[in-house]
Amino acid sequence: MKSSITKIKNKKGKTPIVVLTAYSKSVSKILDKYCDIILVGDSLANVLYGMKSTHDVTLEMMIKHGLSVKLGAKKTLCVVDMPKNTYKNLKTAKANAKKIIKRTKCDAVKIESNGRNHLIIKGLVKSKIPVMGHIGYTPQFKKNFKVAGFSAIEEKKLISEAINIEKAGAFSIVLECIVSKTSKKITNAIKIPTIGIGSSINCDGQVLVTDDMLGLSGFKPKFVKKYTSLNKIIENSIQKYKKEVIKKMFPNKSNSF
Ligand code: KIV
Repeated sequence: MKSSITKIKNKKGKTPIVVLTAYSKSVSKILDKYCDIILVGDSLANVLYGMKSTHDVTLEMMIKHGLSVKLGAKKTLCVVDMPKNTYKNLKTAKANAKKIIKRTKCDAVKIESNGRNHLIIKGLVKSKIPVMGHIGYTPQFKKNFKVAGFSAIEEKKLISEAINIEKAGAFSIVLECIVSKTSKKITNAIKIPTIGIGSSINCDGQVLVTDDMLGLSGFKPKFVKKYTSLNKIIENSIQKYKKEVIKKMFPNKSNSF
């Protein structure tokens, strides 16, 4: 039987790859029915922990959430983000990536690019650790949000970064907030799948932060499509619960022993 990673790679140019983030078992259990990849993203910093950036996320946080996600994901490929400063050199990157895979039983790690760390990816892949790359807007290395790839120089740099990551052995690359024309050129320049977020239809797959597309996080930049307003649904239920508790309608006989 072909490995999940081979199956993902084989989808390039044939079937779009469906990716969403999860931080817990309850969400990954649902995603497991529909996604090709579940990403335990370090976006949990902002979404769950109220941090201003992803910079203070620890390895232990990612391991704990990876463990929870894996409990709900029986068949989908699970990728865990390596936090900033956990892959500064090959030795630490290897030790930390191995820790993530061993403790969470997830399948791969994701590494944000700073233009140079394709060498780290190469070392990890050599040690049989599957890696997903990440280029364009990379929150671990960029202070301010910026859409990438407008200028010819920037475009050239992004294409060569993607080629280096492919040569290093990554099985796919996230393209975050890259202009449409450049996403197309990157996707055409490499043989591994590109997974876009804010990077147009010109990618081999798409990823969104689940809490954003469900309307739970309150974060709604241009590239996020809100598929529902889960916060309103939750609020309605909480209001109903409060009313019933105050009116002594809950718990009733059926909820009591
Ligand atoms: O951390 C994350 O959720 C991510 C996605 C936005 C790609 O890296």
